[in-house]
Amino acid sequence: MGKIILTGDRPTGKLHIGHYIGSLRNRVRLQNEGDYDKFFIEVADAQALTDNFDNPKKIRDNVIEVVLDYLSVGIDPDKVNIFIQSEVPALTELTFYYMNLVTVSRLMRNPTVKSEIGTRGFDNNIPSGFLNYPISQAADITAFKANCVPVGEDQLPMIEQTNEIVHKFNSIYGEVLIHANAVVPESAMEGRVPGIDGKAKMSKSLDNCIYLSDSPEEVKRKVMMMYTDPDHIKVEDPGKVEGNMVFTYLELFVSQEHFKKYLPEYQNLDELKAHYQKGGLGDVKIKKFLNAVLEDVLSEFRKRRKYYEDNIDKVYEIIKKGTEAANEVANETLKEVKAAIGIDYLENDNFLNEIKGKFNN
Ligand code: TRP
Repeated sequence: MGKIILTGDRPTGKLHIGHYIGSLRNRVRLQNEGDYDKFFIEVADAQALTDNFDNPKKIRDNVIEVVLDYLSVGIDPDKVNIFIQSEVPALTELTFYYMNLVTVSRLMRNPTVKSEIGTRGFDNNIPSGFLNYPISQAADITAFKANCVPVGEDQLPMIEQTNEIVHKFNSIYGEVLIHANAVVPESAMEGRVPGIDGKAKMSKSLDNCIYLSDSPEEVKRKVMMMYTDPDHIKVEDPGKVEGNMVFTYLELFVSQEHFKKYLPEYQNLDELKAHYQKGGLGDVKIKKFLNAVLEDVLSEFRKRRKYYEDNIDKVYEIIKKGTEAANEVANETLKEVKAAIGIDYLENDNFLNEIKGKFNN
């Protein structure tokens, strides 16, 4: 069998450059390499509701934002099916049958779930829908028989749990489901892009993000307030590049071209770093450079986004077409799953023939 790629995001907010480095960039690369049979990206609204059930408007509002983020970074709707999770009912049905294959204690041991229970303050009042979302994620992945799942490091426990379900299902009911392989970013830094405050992972709740949809003014404002080296006070002072967010982001975004275009007096990042460490290079200069580098990337995104915002009917059609394609594949898998368990009573003549035989008519 060829390569089937599936991944997704919860529509709880706009996507930021951490998402781009950690996952979106990888998806665009996979798309452009073209070495796959099918490629699906899911807007996981049902999963997002498991811990936002009391704020459904937030999820509804962000569905379109996330789709626009995908399109703006260069996801090509002719190559990739973008779909909405809740509009693919087979996923919910699969989840219900997979629930039999997973114990509550196993779910509680899932490290991602465990830490989320803590950060959401659920303690002993865990909504059962939330506890079960790894099972629903296994349905997302297996419904498409995806063998390639590009995700961030934090999603590895989900893939592991998916594969436990795959193997348990196949051993009880017969070989139907496919083992999934996670594809994670190459370097730790790509998987864990820190926020502009330099403190922790970029995240909406910490208000330390640069969003893919930020205006040039917003990006500039954020770059100018970025955490650098608090001991680098005067231009002549030697400065630290470790933990300095300007250098962290340059590592992730800068290319040879950018030096030629915006800072020709340096050959590469190593030279720039050496000068900063020695002293004599000011924060404003490196921040202006970073801003130009980010704008180089983000202005492309903004252009595409504007096109789709001005043609929002097209975006609706993209979602509709992607969701139809998703339903087709997921329904086929559900059929196989039901047949394997033996709950395909009215879907073919097998059951009818069986009962006829049993009662001799
Ligand atoms: N759990 C993922 C996240 O929080 C989103 C997601 C839902 C997903 N279903 C998926 C990722 C299937 C990969 C495959 O980002």
